[in-house]
Amino acid sequence: MDTQLEQLRADALAAIFAAADEAAVEQARIKYLGQSGEFTALSKGMKDVSKDDKPRIGKLLNDVRNAVTAALDERKAALLADADAAAFAGVDVTLPGTASRLGSLHPITQLQDRAIQIFRRMGFALADGPDIETEWHCFDALNTPADHPARNEQDTFYLPDGRLLRTHTSTIQIREMTTQPPPVRIIAPGAAYRRDEVDATHLAQFNQMEGLYVAEGVSLADLKGTLEFFFRELFGNDAQFRFRPHFFPFTEPSFEVDVKAAAFGGGERWLEIAGCGMVDPAVFEAINGQRGDHAYDPEKYTGFAFGFGLDRLAMILSGTPDIRSFTQNDQRFLAQF
Ligand code: DAH
Repeated sequence: MDTQLEQLRADALAAIFAAADEAAVEQARIKYLGQSGEFTALSKGMKDVSKDDKPRIGKLLNDVRNAVTAALDERKAALLADADAAAFAGVDVTLPGTASRLGSLHPITQLQDRAIQIFRRMGFALADGPDIETEWHCFDALNTPADHPARNEQDTFYLPDGRLLRTHTSTIQIREMTTQPPPVRIIAPGAAYRRDEVDATHLAQFNQMEGLYVAEGVSLADLKGTLEFFFRELFGNDAQFRFRPHFFPFTEPSFEVDVKAAAFGGGERWLEIAGCGMVDPAVFEAINGQRGDHAYDPEKYTGFAFGFGLDRLAMILSGTPDIRSFTQNDQRFLAQF
């Protein structure tokens, strides 16, 4: 058995070091160490070895297996090193590489981050909600009657099961208040969807940011102060703003905020940038009905809410005349931000 084992070791090592590629190394492994290989066959003879010889033959078996295993590993590593060296042959690694272009965040994302930072400083927390919504969250709870034009199938994407793609992020106000008692102070950025004809100022999917602050004693002055602070941070201290009375079903009174800014095509004009108002008590009552309690007591709590389009703000701030530029992923446009 000793001679057979020594012979196996010699044959195996010779075969392994002659192996020209990985497949040949693997073949050698199977031939010598595989389940039906020569080593396995030989080690079966162990049971016929006399008791005196057993320790010595056992050790030899071990030595041979270890030697063959080590040779296999060594040969594989050597072949790999050869392949690496061949791959680099003729390559001058001291030449400068081709620099990859540095990317950056999308301009809407940059604006959204900036807006979040400003509201953070005023104590607003981030809130979130689903893009696919129920009619209740999108309209009913927001005091929007069944015959309101926004609910029309011409304006809203409805799913076959009756749910819809939210037409505004005001749905997140409703989600927040149904799940937590006052006080709440949140902002909620997210996508909104409308069946608009896509043109230079409309997209079927756009980006909004919603805000809501409900507590005891929240006033219209708080609303004005908060939004003025926010918009001054964005547009600069000298920018002019005005609050123009408006109507939203979910706020009373309601306003639109305008900024005096350079309009596309030249000249300063008042441009509408946000909707806002004091939360209508009917919204609190809808929330209470859903919660089954009286947590949002309209006699005790007041609140303000606002919403604005991030795409529109980005257009005004950057002087971009066509909203579609933000979705076309043209590097020449995006690289400017
Ligand atoms: N949801 C309104 C829109 O999409 C924007 C808005 C107006 C949000 C007034 C509000 C609000 O929270 O109070 O046009």
